[in-house]
Amino acid sequence: MPLASRRLYAHNALMPVTISGPKRLRGEITAPGDKSVSHRAAMFNAIANGSATLTNFSPGEDCASTLDVLRSLGVEIDRGPGAEGLGDTIHVSGLGMHRLTEPAEILDAGNSGTTTRLMSGILAGRDIFAVLSGDTSIRSRPMGRVVSPLRQMGAEIFGRKDNTLAPLAFAGGKLTGMRYEMPVASAQLKSSILLAGLRADGETQLTQPAQSRDHTERMLSAMGAHVETERNNVSVRPSELEAIDVYVPGDISSAAFWMVAGLVHPDAEITVRGVGINPTRAGVIDALKMMNADISLENERDAAGEPVADIVVRSSNLKGAVIAGDIVPLLIDEIPIIAVAAAMAEGETRFEDAGELRVKETDRIAATADWMTAAGVRVETTTETMTVHGAGRLLGGTFNGHHDHRIAMSEGIAGLISESPVTITGAEIASISYPQFWTEIEKLGGAVE
Ligand code: S3P
Repeated sequence: MPLASRRLYAHNALMPVTISGPKRLRGEITAPGDKSVSHRAAMFNAIANGSATLTNFSPGEDCASTLDVLRSLGVEIDRGPGAEGLGDTIHVSGLGMHRLTEPAEILDAGNSGTTTRLMSGILAGRDIFAVLSGDTSIRSRPMGRVVSPLRQMGAEIFGRKDNTLAPLAFAGGKLTGMRYEMPVASAQLKSSILLAGLRADGETQLTQPAQSRDHTERMLSAMGAHVETERNNVSVRPSELEAIDVYVPGDISSAAFWMVAGLVHPDAEITVRGVGINPTRAGVIDALKMMNADISLENERDAAGEPVADIVVRSSNLKGAVIAGDIVPLLIDEIPIIAVAAAMAEGETRFEDAGELRVKETDRIAATADWMTAAGVRVETTTETMTVHGAGRLLGGTFNGHHDHRIAMSEGIAGLISESPVTITGAEIASISYPQFWTEIEKLGGAVE
């Protein structure tokens, strides 16, 4: 379905959802395909030589936005149902590094920051004119962080507010490699520059202030690119890519909701199958363990270059913790749901060095503080920090989903354990990453009305 109609559907579906919890929470869930890996598998194969099959592709709208953008650039993509229990299968016919065609329309990234920032690296310095934009959230998120280094490499890119906001217009230019010190530990920024570096003259060298997710480096290397990583430094030399089939592991960012549900519910055991546990993504496991969580990993295995495991969680007496420093980029998307664990824990949990949360799909520090305060939890915030005073309880109520999938789903998990039901307005936003989320709650025994 074209993006415009998908979004229309989402806007028409402004149905509040009400969640209440069962006495026992038991069950097994298969995590949906990882969003970060799905975006990359589609984009990188689109500019590779040959064609590829992607298995267990993310069901979320964000990755569908990436497919739509690639189609508008002339890439042939077929999508069909996957095998039982798996996400859709995608066939991508790669155009090679230099053959994307000029789009006749504005490229619509929807709500997806990954689409906007990674595609910026792909569109930079090409022989075509393209305009990339997205929804209200995307048009207010910082794009200067990618535009500025791409312009330094020689790309002609223009945007609103002195080239810092989308819509972004790409008008060619000639790319040259450079050394770049990244101001933030952002995988989106790193990936954008690496993708431009594939087509630049000479080497591109990056230093990141801390590790961020490394799916780009892993996948580009597997496709034959000259990418080298040494601690926080990554470099790339001009390369062609060879198409590769990708089995997309389950999304740990989606699994995190069930992990926290199982830990905070007084009588629970939940198994989440097939979760990607790449160390640059798995900070949530370490953070919850610091909070005294009963989490075990079973069937650890490798799926197409990414480590995968089944994760088993059981009811736990959680304690507050300090979550700060280099671990933060490794669990950045999970902070809204870890905050639910913090609310149910004994003592206070401090999230530090978390200013990036303010520029996600919404300001996630403000949104979390807003709904949790209404749920009877004391939350203190500064620009970079959030302190949750664990009360061991959450009141119910009606909370706004803040047009942010991870906020709405965190409120949904709260409904499984709160003293009275939780109603989430704008709950359909979960489909950005996890359309089946509300049905899965029912599968575990929760009531969804
Ligand atoms: C992502 C990186 C993260 C994350 C986002 C997905 C990616 O953003 O928040 O949901 O796929 O590269 P930053 O790298 O900008 O922190």
